[in-house]
Amino acid sequence: MSATSKSRPIDDEAALQLDANGNLRHLLTLKGLDKRLLIDILDDAERYLTAPGSLPVRSKSLAGRTVANLFFEPSTRTRASFDLAGKRLGADVLNLDVNTSSRKKGESILDTIYTLEAMQVDVMVVRDASSGVPAYIANNVLDHVSILNAGEAEVSHPTQGLLDLLTIRQHKGGIENLTIAIVGDIRHSRVAMSASHGLTTMGVGELRLISPAALAPDPDTLPGALIFDNLAEGLAGADVVMGLRIQRERIGNLDGIPAIDEYFANYGISHERLKVAAPDVIVMHPGPMNRGIEIESTVADGPNSVITQQVTNGVAIRMAVLDRVGRIMSAR
Ligand code: CP
Repeated sequence: MSATSKSRPIDDEAALQLDANGNLRHLLTLKGLDKRLLIDILDDAERYLTAPGSLPVRSKSLAGRTVANLFFEPSTRTRASFDLAGKRLGADVLNLDVNTSSRKKGESILDTIYTLEAMQVDVMVVRDASSGVPAYIANNVLDHVSILNAGEAEVSHPTQGLLDLLTIRQHKGGIENLTIAIVGDIRHSRVAMSASHGLTTMGVGELRLISPAALAPDPDTLPGALIFDNLAEGLAGADVVMGLRIQRERIGNLDGIPAIDEYFANYGISHERLKVAAPDVIVMHPGPMNRGIEIESTVADGPNSVITQQVTNGVAIRMAVLDRVGRIMSAR
Protein backbone atom coordinates (compact mmCIF):
# COMPACT_ATOMS: atom_id res chain seq x y z
CA MET A 1 0.00 0.00 0.00
CA SER A 2 1.52 3.33 -0.98
CA ALA A 3 0.36 6.90 -0.68
CA THR A 4 0.45 7.29 -4.44
CA SER A 5 -1.15 4.07 -5.58
CA LYS A 6 -4.70 5.48 -5.67
CA SER A 7 -3.94 9.19 -6.05
CA ARG A 8 -6.21 11.19 -8.31
CA PRO A 9 -5.79 14.87 -9.23
CA ILE A 10 -7.14 17.28 -6.62
CA ASP A 11 -10.27 18.85 -8.08
CA ASP A 12 -11.83 22.14 -7.18
CA GLU A 13 -12.55 21.80 -3.48
CA ALA A 14 -16.08 23.20 -3.56
CA ALA A 15 -17.13 20.95 -6.46
CA LEU A 16 -15.53 17.94 -4.79
CA GLN A 17 -18.05 18.20 -1.97
CA LEU A 18 -21.10 17.37 -4.07
CA ASP A 19 -22.01 14.15 -5.86
CA ALA A 20 -23.31 13.98 -9.44
CA ASN A 21 -26.83 14.83 -8.20
CA GLY A 22 -25.70 17.89 -6.23
CA ASN A 23 -25.99 16.15 -2.85
CA LEU A 24 -23.45 16.75 -0.09
CA ARG A 25 -20.93 13.92 -0.09
CA HIS A 26 -17.97 15.53 1.70
CA LEU A 27 -17.99 18.70 3.83
CA LEU A 28 -14.68 20.48 3.29
CA THR A 29 -15.56 24.19 3.20
CA LEU A 30 -18.62 26.43 3.30
CA LYS A 31 -17.16 28.44 0.42
CA GLY A 32 -19.09 27.64 -2.73
CA LEU A 33 -22.01 25.85 -1.04
CA ASP A 34 -25.29 27.46 -1.97
CA LYS A 35 -27.65 29.21 0.40
CA ARG A 36 -30.43 26.63 -0.04
CA LEU A 37 -28.13 23.82 1.12
CA LEU A 38 -26.96 25.81 4.14
CA ILE A 39 -30.57 26.55 5.13
CA ASP A 40 -31.54 22.89 4.70
CA ILE A 41 -28.72 21.82 7.04
CA LEU A 42 -29.74 24.43 9.64
CA ASP A 43 -33.38 23.29 9.39
CA ASP A 44 -32.32 19.64 9.79
CA ALA A 45 -30.23 20.56 12.85
CA GLU A 46 -33.22 22.25 14.53
CA ARG A 47 -34.91 18.85 14.60
CA TYR A 48 -32.13 17.44 16.78
CA LEU A 49 -32.52 20.05 19.52
CA THR A 50 -34.48 19.34 22.68
CA ALA A 51 -35.10 21.31 25.85
CA PRO A 52 -32.29 21.26 28.46
CA GLY A 53 -32.79 18.33 30.83
CA SER A 54 -34.82 16.27 28.35
CA LEU A 55 -33.39 13.25 26.55
CA PRO A 56 -31.46 13.96 23.33
CA VAL A 57 -32.99 13.01 19.99
CA ARG A 58 -31.81 9.62 18.78
CA SER A 59 -32.33 7.79 15.51
CA LYS A 60 -31.01 4.72 13.72
CA SER A 61 -30.29 6.53 10.46
CA LEU A 62 -26.59 5.61 10.62
CA ALA A 63 -27.08 2.09 12.04
CA GLY A 64 -24.48 -0.23 10.54
CA ARG A 65 -22.29 2.69 9.44
CA THR A 66 -18.92 3.47 11.01
CA VAL A 67 -17.63 6.97 11.73
CA ALA A 68 -13.94 7.50 12.55
CA ASN A 69 -12.74 10.62 14.34
CA LEU A 70 -9.18 11.44 13.22
CA PHE A 71 -7.98 14.46 15.16
CA PHE A 72 -4.37 15.30 14.41
CA GLU A 73 -4.76 18.50 16.49
CA PRO A 74 -6.30 18.86 19.97
CA SER A 75 -10.05 19.35 20.37
CA THR A 76 -12.70 19.19 23.06
CA ARG A 77 -15.94 20.49 21.50
CA THR A 78 -15.66 19.30 17.90
CA ARG A 79 -14.39 15.83 18.68
CA ALA A 80 -16.84 15.20 21.54
CA SER A 81 -19.78 16.47 19.51
CA PHE A 82 -18.95 14.35 16.44
CA ASP A 83 -18.62 11.38 18.80
CA LEU A 84 -22.02 12.04 20.39
CA ALA A 85 -23.62 12.91 17.05
CA GLY A 86 -22.52 9.62 15.47
CA LYS A 87 -23.68 7.57 18.46
CA ARG A 88 -27.04 9.36 18.66
CA LEU A 89 -27.62 8.40 15.01
CA GLY A 90 -26.81 4.76 15.73
CA ALA A 91 -23.36 4.58 14.10
CA ASP A 92 -20.31 2.75 15.42
CA VAL A 93 -17.84 5.51 16.32
CA LEU A 94 -14.09 5.00 16.36
CA ASN A 95 -11.99 7.67 18.08
CA LEU A 96 -8.46 7.03 16.85
CA ASP A 97 -5.89 8.00 19.45
CA VAL A 98 -3.42 9.69 17.14
CA ASN A 99 -0.72 9.86 19.80
CA THR A 100 -0.59 6.07 20.09
CA SER A 101 -1.35 5.35 16.43
CA SER A 102 1.09 4.08 13.81
CA ARG A 103 1.39 7.62 12.44
CA LYS A 104 3.93 7.98 15.24
CA LYS A 105 5.91 5.21 13.52
CA GLY A 106 6.00 7.15 10.26
CA GLU A 107 2.86 5.83 8.57
CA SER A 108 1.54 8.32 6.02
CA ILE A 109 -1.88 9.93 6.34
CA LEU A 110 -3.10 8.08 3.25
CA ASP A 111 -1.92 4.72 4.53
CA THR A 112 -3.82 5.45 7.74
CA ILE A 113 -6.90 6.29 5.68
CA TYR A 114 -6.60 3.17 3.50
CA THR A 115 -6.23 1.05 6.64
CA LEU A 116 -9.47 2.47 8.06
CA GLU A 117 -11.23 2.03 4.70
CA ALA A 118 -10.24 -1.63 4.83
CA MET A 119 -12.05 -1.84 8.19
CA GLN A 120 -15.21 -0.54 6.48
CA VAL A 121 -15.16 2.96 7.92
CA ASP A 122 -17.75 5.02 6.02
CA VAL A 123 -17.19 8.54 7.35
CA MET A 124 -13.87 10.06 8.39
CA VAL A 125 -13.92 13.23 10.47
CA VAL A 126 -10.55 14.92 10.04
CA ARG A 127 -8.79 17.73 11.89
CA ASP A 128 -5.28 18.63 10.77
CA ALA A 129 -2.83 21.51 11.18
CA SER A 130 -1.94 21.55 7.46
CA SER A 131 -4.10 23.17 4.83
CA GLY A 132 -5.40 20.94 2.06
CA VAL A 133 -5.43 17.70 4.05
CA PRO A 134 -9.23 17.08 4.05
CA ALA A 135 -9.48 17.68 0.28
CA TYR A 136 -6.41 15.53 -0.32
CA ILE A 137 -8.02 12.68 1.59
CA ALA A 138 -11.39 13.24 -0.12
CA ASN A 139 -9.64 12.89 -3.48
CA ASN A 140 -8.20 9.54 -2.48
CA VAL A 141 -10.96 7.62 -0.74
CA LEU A 142 -13.30 5.00 -2.14
CA ASP A 143 -16.51 6.26 -3.72
CA HIS A 144 -18.76 5.43 -0.77
CA VAL A 145 -16.58 7.17 1.88
CA SER A 146 -17.33 10.70 3.12
CA ILE A 147 -14.78 13.12 4.55
CA LEU A 148 -15.91 15.80 7.01
CA ASN A 149 -13.51 18.64 7.79
CA ALA A 150 -13.34 19.17 11.56
CA GLY A 151 -10.80 22.02 11.40
CA GLU A 152 -8.13 22.63 8.77
CA ALA A 153 -5.15 24.87 9.63
CA GLU A 154 -6.26 28.52 9.48
CA VAL A 155 -8.38 27.74 6.41
CA SER A 156 -11.69 26.13 7.21
CA HIS A 157 -13.93 24.81 10.01
CA PRO A 158 -17.23 24.30 8.22
CA THR A 159 -19.30 22.64 10.96
CA GLN A 160 -18.27 25.49 13.31
CA GLY A 161 -19.47 27.96 10.66
CA LEU A 162 -22.80 26.14 10.44
CA LEU A 163 -23.34 26.06 14.20
CA ASP A 164 -22.55 29.76 14.31
CA LEU A 165 -25.15 30.46 11.61
CA LEU A 166 -27.71 28.38 13.49
CA THR A 167 -27.06 30.20 16.75
CA ILE A 168 -27.39 33.62 15.12
CA ARG A 169 -30.56 32.60 13.28
CA GLN A 170 -32.14 31.34 16.52
CA HIS A 171 -31.57 34.67 18.24
CA LYS A 172 -32.04 37.13 15.40
CA GLY A 173 -34.55 35.32 13.18
CA GLY A 174 -32.19 35.43 10.19
CA ILE A 175 -28.84 36.70 9.00
CA GLU A 176 -29.79 39.40 6.48
CA ASN A 177 -29.45 43.02 7.61
CA LEU A 178 -27.40 42.12 10.68
CA THR A 179 -24.15 43.83 11.61
CA ILE A 180 -21.76 41.14 12.78
CA ALA A 181 -18.38 41.88 14.35
CA ILE A 182 -15.67 39.24 14.73
CA VAL A 183 -12.92 40.32 17.12
CA GLY A 184 -9.45 38.90 17.68
CA ASP A 185 -6.91 36.87 15.76
CA ILE A 186 -8.67 36.90 12.42
CA ARG A 187 -5.51 36.12 10.43
CA HIS A 188 -5.00 32.66 11.90
CA SER A 189 -8.64 31.74 12.46
CA ARG A 190 -10.40 29.01 10.51
CA VAL A 191 -13.49 29.88 12.56
CA ALA A 192 -13.47 33.43 11.16
CA MET A 193 -12.97 32.09 7.64
CA SER A 194 -15.88 29.65 7.76
CA ALA A 195 -18.13 32.12 9.58
CA SER A 196 -17.35 34.73 6.94
CA HIS A 197 -18.08 32.35 4.07
CA GLY A 198 -21.36 31.23 5.61
CA LEU A 199 -22.49 34.71 6.63
CA THR A 200 -21.70 36.13 3.20
CA THR A 201 -23.68 33.38 1.44
CA MET A 202 -26.59 33.99 3.81
CA GLY A 203 -26.61 37.71 2.93
CA VAL A 204 -25.22 39.31 6.09
CA GLY A 205 -25.81 43.08 6.25
CA GLU A 206 -22.30 44.09 7.33
CA LEU A 207 -19.40 41.90 8.39
CA ARG A 208 -16.67 43.59 10.43
CA LEU A 209 -13.34 42.00 11.28
CA ILE A 210 -11.58 43.69 14.20
CA SER A 211 -7.99 43.02 15.23
CA PRO A 212 -4.59 44.60 15.76
CA ALA A 213 -2.68 44.98 12.50
CA ALA A 214 -0.47 41.96 13.23
CA LEU A 215 -3.56 39.71 13.39
CA ALA A 216 -5.56 41.29 10.56
CA PRO A 217 -6.61 39.11 7.61
CA ASP A 218 -5.39 39.39 4.06
CA PRO A 219 -8.30 41.44 2.62
CA ASP A 220 -8.19 39.34 -0.57
CA THR A 221 -9.21 36.21 1.36
CA LEU A 222 -12.43 37.76 2.68
CA PRO A 223 -13.71 40.23 0.10
CA GLY A 224 -16.69 42.28 1.25
CA ALA A 225 -15.73 42.29 4.93
CA LEU A 226 -14.81 45.60 6.58
CA ILE A 227 -11.51 45.56 8.44
CA PHE A 228 -11.10 47.57 11.67
CA ASP A 229 -8.23 48.05 14.11
CA ASN A 230 -10.32 50.07 16.56
CA LEU A 231 -12.61 48.03 18.80
CA ALA A 232 -15.09 50.82 19.64
CA GLU A 233 -15.59 51.66 15.97
CA GLY A 234 -16.00 48.01 15.04
CA LEU A 235 -18.49 47.25 17.83
CA ALA A 236 -20.68 50.32 17.30
CA GLY A 237 -24.25 49.13 16.70
CA ALA A 238 -23.23 45.48 16.26
CA ASP A 239 -26.03 42.89 16.57
CA VAL A 240 -23.61 40.00 17.03
CA VAL A 241 -20.09 40.02 18.48
CA MET A 242 -17.88 36.96 18.13
CA GLY A 243 -14.62 36.76 20.10
CA LEU A 244 -11.63 34.69 19.00
CA ARG A 245 -8.57 33.58 20.92
CA ILE A 246 -5.05 34.29 19.71
CA GLN A 247 -4.02 31.12 17.85
CA ARG A 248 -0.52 30.94 19.30
CA GLU A 249 0.04 27.46 17.85
CA ARG A 250 -0.11 28.98 14.34
CA ILE A 251 2.04 32.05 14.98
CA GLY A 252 5.75 31.58 14.46
CA ASN A 253 6.81 35.08 15.39
CA LEU A 254 4.92 37.00 18.10
CA ASP A 255 6.47 40.36 17.07
CA GLY A 256 3.81 43.06 16.81
CA ILE A 257 1.29 41.16 18.91
CA PRO A 258 0.38 43.16 22.02
CA ALA A 259 1.16 41.77 25.50
CA ILE A 260 -1.82 40.29 27.34
CA ASP A 261 -2.76 43.39 29.40
CA GLU A 262 -2.48 45.67 26.40
CA TYR A 263 -4.41 43.22 24.25
CA PHE A 264 -7.28 42.98 26.73
CA ALA A 265 -7.38 46.77 27.15
CA ASN A 266 -7.61 47.34 23.39
CA TYR A 267 -9.35 44.24 22.03
CA GLY A 268 -10.89 42.41 25.01
CA ILE A 269 -14.69 42.07 24.87
CA SER A 270 -15.77 43.58 28.19
CA HIS A 271 -19.05 44.76 29.63
CA GLU A 272 -17.80 48.34 29.27
CA ARG A 273 -16.68 47.98 25.64
CA LEU A 274 -19.98 46.34 24.67
CA LYS A 275 -22.00 49.43 25.61
CA VAL A 276 -21.64 50.78 22.05
CA ALA A 277 -23.12 47.60 20.52
CA ALA A 278 -26.87 47.08 19.95
CA PRO A 279 -28.76 46.70 23.26
CA ASP A 280 -29.77 43.14 22.36
CA VAL A 281 -26.33 42.14 21.10
CA ILE A 282 -25.45 38.47 21.40
CA VAL A 283 -21.90 37.47 22.31
CA MET A 284 -20.37 34.35 20.76
CA HIS A 285 -17.08 32.51 21.10
CA PRO A 286 -16.14 29.18 19.45
CA GLY A 287 -14.00 28.11 22.41
CA PRO A 288 -11.63 27.37 23.88
CA MET A 289 -11.79 30.75 25.63
CA ASN A 290 -8.95 32.60 27.30
CA ARG A 291 -10.86 34.56 29.91
CA GLY A 292 -9.32 37.93 30.70
CA ILE A 293 -7.51 38.06 27.35
CA GLU A 294 -10.06 38.18 24.51
CA ILE A 295 -13.18 38.13 26.70
CA GLU A 296 -14.13 39.20 30.20
CA SER A 297 -15.65 36.47 32.37
CA THR A 298 -18.71 38.59 33.21
CA VAL A 299 -19.44 38.82 29.47
CA ALA A 300 -18.73 35.13 28.75
CA ASP A 301 -21.13 34.12 31.53
CA GLY A 302 -23.50 37.09 31.20
CA PRO A 303 -27.02 37.50 29.84
CA ASN A 304 -25.93 38.34 26.28
CA SER A 305 -23.69 35.29 25.97
CA VAL A 306 -24.83 32.41 23.75
CA ILE A 307 -21.58 30.48 24.05
CA THR A 308 -22.99 27.35 25.68
CA GLN A 309 -25.83 27.35 23.15
CA GLN A 310 -23.19 27.26 20.40
CA VAL A 311 -21.87 24.07 21.96
CA THR A 312 -25.35 22.51 22.10
CA ASN A 313 -25.94 23.50 18.49
CA GLY A 314 -22.63 21.90 17.54
CA VAL A 315 -24.00 18.43 18.29
CA ALA A 316 -27.18 19.12 16.32
CA ILE A 317 -25.28 20.46 13.30
CA ARG A 318 -22.94 17.46 13.28
CA MET A 319 -25.94 15.12 13.50
CA ALA A 320 -27.51 16.95 10.55
CA VAL A 321 -24.34 16.67 8.46
CA LEU A 322 -23.70 13.02 9.35
CA ASP A 323 -27.32 12.11 8.62
CA ARG A 324 -27.13 13.91 5.26
CA VAL A 325 -23.99 12.12 4.04
CA GLY A 326 -25.37 8.83 5.43
CA ARG A 327 -28.55 9.22 3.38
CA ILE A 328 -26.48 9.60 0.21
CA MET A 329 -24.55 6.42 1.07
CA SER A 330 -27.77 4.49 1.55
CA ALA A 331 -29.19 5.77 -1.75
CA ARG A 332 -26.17 4.55 -3.75
N1 CP B 1 -14.48 25.42 18.48
C1 CP B 1 -13.64 24.37 18.42
O1 CP B 1 -13.24 23.92 17.34
O2 CP B 1 -13.30 23.87 19.64
P1 CP B 1 -12.38 22.59 19.87
O3 CP B 1 -10.98 22.97 19.42
O4 CP B 1 -12.45 22.32 21.35
O5 CP B 1 -12.91 21.49 19.04
